Amino acid sequence: MADLEHVRVEWDADLAIVTVDRPEKLNALNAEVVRELGEVFSSLRDDDNVRGVILTGAGSKAFVAGADIGELATMDSVSGVRVSRDGQEVFRAIERFPKPVLAAVGGYALGGGCELALACHLRIASDRARFGLPEVSLGIIPGYGGTIRLARLIGLGRAIELTLTGDMVDAERAHEIGLVSSVVSSETLIDEAKTLIRRVTKNGPIAVRMALESIYRGLDTATAEALDFESSLFGLLASTEDMREGMEAFLEKRKADFKGR
Ligand code: COA
Repeated sequence: MADLEHVRVEWDADLAIVTVDRPEKLNALNAEVVRELGEVFSSLRDDDNVRGVILTGAGSKAFVAGADIGELATMDSVSGVRVSRDGQEVFRAIERFPKPVLAAVGGYALGGGCELALACHLRIASDRARFGLPEVSLGIIPGYGGTIRLARLIGLGRAIELTLTGDMVDAERAHEIGLVSSVVSSETLIDEAKTLIRRVTKNGPIAVRMALESIYRGLDTATAEALDFESSLFGLLASTEDMREGMEAFLEKRKADFKGR
């Protein structure tokens, strides 16, 4: 992860805290930020010391205020497809990340920033957060998966309304419509993010990974096939040391010590 200019990685034990760090542009995603995010997630994926990732934005105003409009303004239809594909690839890698990824949204999450939060497995917001997909106001559409993921998360009607109006919603409304799981104060955002993600990482890591795989596969597959896939993963987990440890710990009335094996 050498030479990162706009993405910072810090550690809290086995959690990686990844910060998009371009506050003077409200953490807008230019090509370099997208590339760096891809590099960071690719290196964290294979790091056995990482059990979970919190993704956030630097400064008090923004999570990420969208794709960099200065860059987008120069695209033609060929480079437009490439911009969209490059972003989609990185966001897909986040969605497919084998450990839980939580977006801690402390300000504007607009356009590509909202889409970035949507690609994460979990989302919490501070009371200052604002969400929206304003792309149509710029004469484009969300190109990093937003037209697909928002409807899956909050339902078709609400997603269509937000996408076609380009309106912003505040944190309370985002909570009401299921866009985030909780709203906390700005001061406690990162601590609350750590608390929530640790409720996940205390569980069997292989089980968490397989649960994510089954849930996401289920979205893209016919029910019969998705159920078969779930059964295969269920069976596979029965061969892990973690399953034995989890069940023994329950029967012995102690806390499980999962090794990820
Ligand atoms: N791309 C490029 N630059 C951006 C940006 C974006 N998506 N969002 C904010 N910035 C830049 C501004 O141009 C400004 O830069 P400058 O100081 O060099 O002029 C700086 O970040 C601060 O933003 P500013 O607009 O002055 O802050 P504000 O508090 O008045 O408004 C927003 C905040 C988020 C409402 C406003 O910045 C905005 O609408 N941003 C664009 C959101 C958007 O449409 N995103 C989707 C893109 S596809």
